[in-house]
Amino acid sequence: MDAPKETGLRNVSSVCSIPEMDDFDLKNLLDKPRLTIKRERSFDERSLSEMSISRGLDNLELAYSPGGRSVLDTPGSSTRNSFEPHPMIAEAWDSLRRSLVHFRGQPVGTIAAYDHASEEVLNYDQVFVRDFVPSALAFLMNGEPDIVKNFLLKTLQLQGWEKRIDRFKLGEGAMPASFKVLHDPERKTDTIVADFGESAIGRVAPVDSGFWWIILLRAYTKSTGDLSLAETADCQKGMKLILTLCLSEGFDTFPTLLCADGCSMIDRRMGIYGYPIEIQALFFMALRCSLAMLKLDEEGKEFVERITKRLHALSFHMRSYFWIDFQQLNDIYRYKTEEYSHTAVNKFNVIPDSIPDWVFDFMPTRGGYFVGNVSPARMDFRWFALGNCVAILSSLATAEQASAIMDLFEARWEELVGEMPIKICYPAIESHEWRIVTGCDPKNTRWSYHNGGSWPVLLWLLTAACIKTGRPQIARRAIELAESRLLKDGWPEYYDGKNGRYIGKQARKYQTWSIAGYLVAKMMLEDPSHLGMISLEDDRQLKPIIKRSSSWTC
Ligand code: GLC
Repeated sequence: MDAPKETGLRNVSSVCSIPEMDDFDLKNLLDKPRLTIKRERSFDERSLSEMSISRGLDNLELAYSPGGRSVLDTPGSSTRNSFEPHPMIAEAWDSLRRSLVHFRGQPVGTIAAYDHASEEVLNYDQVFVRDFVPSALAFLMNGEPDIVKNFLLKTLQLQGWEKRIDRFKLGEGAMPASFKVLHDPERKTDTIVADFGESAIGRVAPVDSGFWWIILLRAYTKSTGDLSLAETADCQKGMKLILTLCLSEGFDTFPTLLCADGCSMIDRRMGIYGYPIEIQALFFMALRCSLAMLKLDEEGKEFVERITKRLHALSFHMRSYFWIDFQQLNDIYRYKTEEYSHTAVNKFNVIPDSIPDWVFDFMPTRGGYFVGNVSPARMDFRWFALGNCVAILSSLATAEQASAIMDLFEARWEELVGEMPIKICYPAIESHEWRIVTGCDPKNTRWSYHNGGSWPVLLWLLTAACIKTGRPQIARRAIELAESRLLKDGWPEYYDGKNGRYIGKQARKYQTWSIAGYLVAKMMLEDPSHLGMISLEDDRQLKPIIKRSSSWTC
């Protein structure tokens, strides 16, 4: 077995502090678009650094010892804990354990929802890859990595299946959206059925599943210090198959990934086709995680080279063209159209009249975000939670951009958090636009479900982003809101309404990722060193001279 390369994953048992949790030297990733934001170090930033100092190294070491459980707030944690854990935590763990799915006696995942009251089960009795991520993180943080390993291996096996939709064969690397274990009590056999999009509404393949798989493999490796799983020939092959799907060259003129509507967490038609931020951020993160895990044999080296080039182009593209703040919005508002040739400022021919009215009010003087989508003459100005949080965690967002995203949360708290954290996207689409964009989808009416609904699962991503940007106070506020309702309401899948005040119209109860998301948020806040398994640092030591490309115009 090859020794881990110098720039690869570090053994997590080594003592490290949050700013040092980088995994590898990612060269040439520092193209920075011009930013207009200057801000003072906030109280929260100070409080976090003070907190990390006062917690001392012992704590970090403890939390990082392979196989060690989180030191705070989890069942089995020691009496070192000087304050009472929230009573919801024990309930949440019980519910999470009830959702476990076994295959031939081994736990391999958690079902999407354990809602007995609901008449329709649909596919909520399946193990979804994306839904399992917060469950997996909760188990890792609690020192229970086996289920995560089983899940990674089981889904890897499913990847090997031949996948067909009617007469059309899907790419080899595609990972399932979900799978189900069928128990036959008479024959005493367990079998698995998987869905790669052939049963899903709209028959769309889940582009996010493969990325989440890679991200989870790194989280497992980082948390346990067990490099041997990622280094197996099977895992290396699985990773390469996923990478082959998204690194292939074709007619693309952009480094971003072209997708069909409904290919990710938002798995119904919602106008996210094209280059949705959620997928671009996950793509970026998965590429960075792969770089840290690929073995440097001949084939591995080729992948590393292709990934590095793609990351370079992708970060430039995203940071320049998807980023919007007050200044950038003002520039777009004044764009000229029909510009031809390399000198064009308005490269994608965005027509200023297409800027929706709401964005002028929504944009604070300080703050910014990555827009939903950028493609020729179509800029989707909607704000999406998952993409923006993952952009922070993966360091796709520069430090300034990450700070600006958090400033936006603070400035637009009512809109983005309201009474239940947090909105999946903002704002909702209504009336005629809703008819055209969703195809009159009755589940996605305004301020419901994927159309501006509030999803408790996103709390863990918000919390992770808060910790990474040094603003734990924001996470604390959001968690308090969740604590005032989640358990009482039976852990709904989503909430409806402009402020997220009503339990979602068709929301499942005991939705596993709402439960696990809460636990992960709590554990991370109590012990910020957990952040390392799901966050990647920008490389600060190896800052290349920032060269602006000839196409740089702003
Ligand atoms: C819904 C969500 C999807 C989730 C699934 C299972 O379809 O849109 O993101 O994975 O439910 O919870």
